[in-house]
Amino acid sequence: MKVLVTGGAGFIGSHIVDALLENGHDVVVVDDLSTGKRANVNTRARLYQVDIRDEQALDAVLAQEKPEAISHQAAKANVRESMVRPQLYAEVNILGSLNLLELARRHGVRKVIYASTGGAVYGEPEYLPADEQHPINPLDPYGASKHQVEHYLYIYRKHFGIDYTVLRYPNVYGPRQDPDGEAGVIAIWTALMLKGQPTVVHGSGEQQRDFVYVGDIARANVLALERGGGEIINLGSAIGTSINEVFDLLQETTGYGLKREHGPAKQGEVFRSYITREKAESILGWRPTVSLAEGLEQTVAYFRS
Ligand SMILES: NC(=O)c1ccc[n+]([C@@H]2O[C@H](COP(=O)([O-])OP(=O)(O)OC[C@H]3O[C@@H](n4cnc5c(N)ncnc54)[C@H](O)[C@@H]3O)[C@@H](O)[C@H]2O)c1
Repeated sequence: MKVLVTGGAGFIGSHIVDALLENGHDVVVVDDLSTGKRANVNTRARLYQVDIRDEQALDAVLAQEKPEAISHQAAKANVRESMVRPQLYAEVNILGSLNLLELARRHGVRKVIYASTGGAVYGEPEYLPADEQHPINPLDPYGASKHQVEHYLYIYRKHFGIDYTVLRYPNVYGPRQDPDGEAGVIAIWTALMLKGQPTVVHGSGEQQRDFVYVGDIARANVLALERGGGEIINLGSAIGTSINEVFDLLQETTGYGLKREHGPAKQGEVFRSYITREKAESILGWRPTVSLAEGLEQTVAYFRS
């Protein structure tokens, strides 16, 4: 199948590109390279440096390539930046996605797989693990913008017959994650620990997150091409791992010599967040297979090289 991956030069998107190619698909990438890197893109995929908000340029790519499906990963994805630039987050994440959907409709795309976020749409969870029925309470413009698109997907399926699968990701980690970004504690600490530089645990470190290896997330995207349709699916492990546990595992894997130092807690941070995996198992036949210890090994090996 020919698949267009938006954001395919980014962290998660580039792993999806690799997984699609491994499964025999033909892959086209659209990325404006704002945070993504050309070097992340598999040489067997065709990269178009295009902004998803640019209707004309995106139209030309769809006319030329005629993809049957789209894996839509491109987004502004920095929670803190979204608090100071909410309009930009709406422009890229909502209007950019709508632009893509309109063009998908015009060019006869069959299915869209959409990267949503379990971490940001549920807010402070009312129960754990949060399932797909959990109330939607985004705490920031990033989460609000990512959630809006889920509604448009429903509308485009109902009225225009474009199928979709919404995948709500947990905290994804692994090779190619940007260590300079604000998100991604594993990438940030791995880079610092390998350089022997100081690290800070914000607050008690007992806050919990749901860490899933990027290869598992990429595999779910490939499965969603053929299975299911019209659903919202969490891609969680259903396990909360504390930040202290992550620190200890990473310290062991990197051989980091400095002690764990704690700083002030981050304001407004959700304390515990992890999401279900049952629906992914029943619809996609998916469950995470890479343990945190194994995934950290892979991540550290990547950062070392
Ligand atoms: N990393 C996580 O833990 C996580 C969790 C939940 C959801 N997500 C979602 O997964 C997707 C991928 O995130 P990531 O962590 O790989 O981030 P990333 O920044 O590495 O990837 C995003 C990609 O989109 C591209 N992009 C941004 N704006 C664009 C635009 N206007 N036009 C074209 N391309 C544009 C960037 O250059 C980049 O390559 C995002 O949609 C994000 O919201 C990520």
